Amino acid sequence: MARLELRNASKYYGKTVAVRNIDLVVEDNEFFCIFGPPSSGKTTILRLLLGLVAPDEGEISIGGEAVGEQGPKERNLAMVFQNLALFPHMTAGQNLAFPLVERKLEKAAITARVAEVAETLHITPLLDKMPAHLSGGERQRVAIGRALVRDPAAFLMDEPIAALDARLREEMRVELKRLQRELHHTIVYVTHDQEEAMSIADRIAVMEAGEIRQIGTPAEIYNLPNSRYVAELIGAPPMNFVDGTLADGGRFEGRDVPLSVALEGADGAGPAALAVRPEDIGIDSAGSGNGAGVDAEIFEVEPLGAFTIVDVSVGERILKVQAPGQPRFTLGEQVRLALDPDRCHLFHGETGDLIRSAR
Ligand SMILES: Nc1ncnc2c1ncn2[C@@H]1O[C@H](COP(=O)(O)OP(=O)(O)OP(=O)(O)O)[C@@H](O)[C@H]1O
Ligand SMILES: [Mg+2]
Repeated sequence: MARLELRNASKYYGKTVAVRNIDLVVEDNEFFCIFGPPSSGKTTILRLLLGLVAPDEGEISIGGEAVGEQGPKERNLAMVFQNLALFPHMTAGQNLAFPLVERKLEKAAITARVAEVAETLHITPLLDKMPAHLSGGERQRVAIGRALVRDPAAFLMDEPIAALDARLREEMRVELKRLQRELHHTIVYVTHDQEEAMSIADRIAVMEAGEIRQIGTPAEIYNLPNSRYVAELIGAPPMNFVDGTLADGGRFEGRDVPLSVALEGADGAGPAALAVRPEDIGIDSAGSGNGAGVDAEIFEVEPLGAFTIVDVSVGERILKVQAPGQPRFTLGEQVRLALDPDRCHLFHGETGDLIRSAR
């Protein structure tokens, strides 16, 4: 399949910036996620690639060739939308065959190709059924199959499984990943679900208001967010942020939280926010002699089986701690929190830019 590239691409609608200065290379055989909140420009990137709209600035190339004025047909990209519309009056098999019938392929070739794709997607037994008699997941598979039969240069998917229920979404995620790996597809996949992006992507682009804030593997985005914006969006439960001040020499002091941490490599005195993931905070009972800790009180406990989310109040703030297993705490119990400075990120208090990553 093909490598896709946007170079400094911008698209405006009147005064609205849909996307600005997008630099993006999706490698051949890569599963690439575009992740961001509503209206951040995700769909616009797909529409630019597809050729449904032209960029106001910048260039797009597919398979190493600038596509310029080429229309959607010439670009040969397959799009899978959230609201996949199967033709209701055609069987699943006829739906699968449709793009090939439209291209006037020979009947035998169509039958063979449909059988092959149906086999890959495990939908052979469904081919004679009407869409109304298929489950949501089955319909989704047929829709993906319909994109697949054409053998496109790449797949563009816009929240393709957002409408499915949670369990089916998880199944489809695994399925898509498997298909992509087996068939060596290039996929650009739009989602506003951080967990979906983290679980499915080789790399993720995080969008904000039409611009890309960070591109990286899921591990890079999770462990080394380059801004408070990215740190806030990725991870559930979300990262804890404590506003305060960084003094010369790298000591952070919390404002509403009695927290003082020495951070190696943190330069630039001024307003700052300390950020730490819930799983990077330890909880000990109050008398444990953990001298370096922070006093806290148990506020709420959410046991989730494999781990437990504990809300603790510290000063005037509630912090979220993710403890492994099912520890027992009583509400109001006094505890001590242990913070490893190496697991703390520090962001600028006003701009949200990174001052220092976790190590
Ligand atoms: N045809 C259009 N005319 C005018 N404005 C548009 C058009 N298409 C998109 N926009 C604007 O461009 C911005 C980006 O839209 P886009 O659809 O790319 O966002 P998105 O990230 O896909 O959002 P969502 O998660 O809601 O689907 C939005 O502010 C949107 O209102
Ligand atoms: Mg969209």
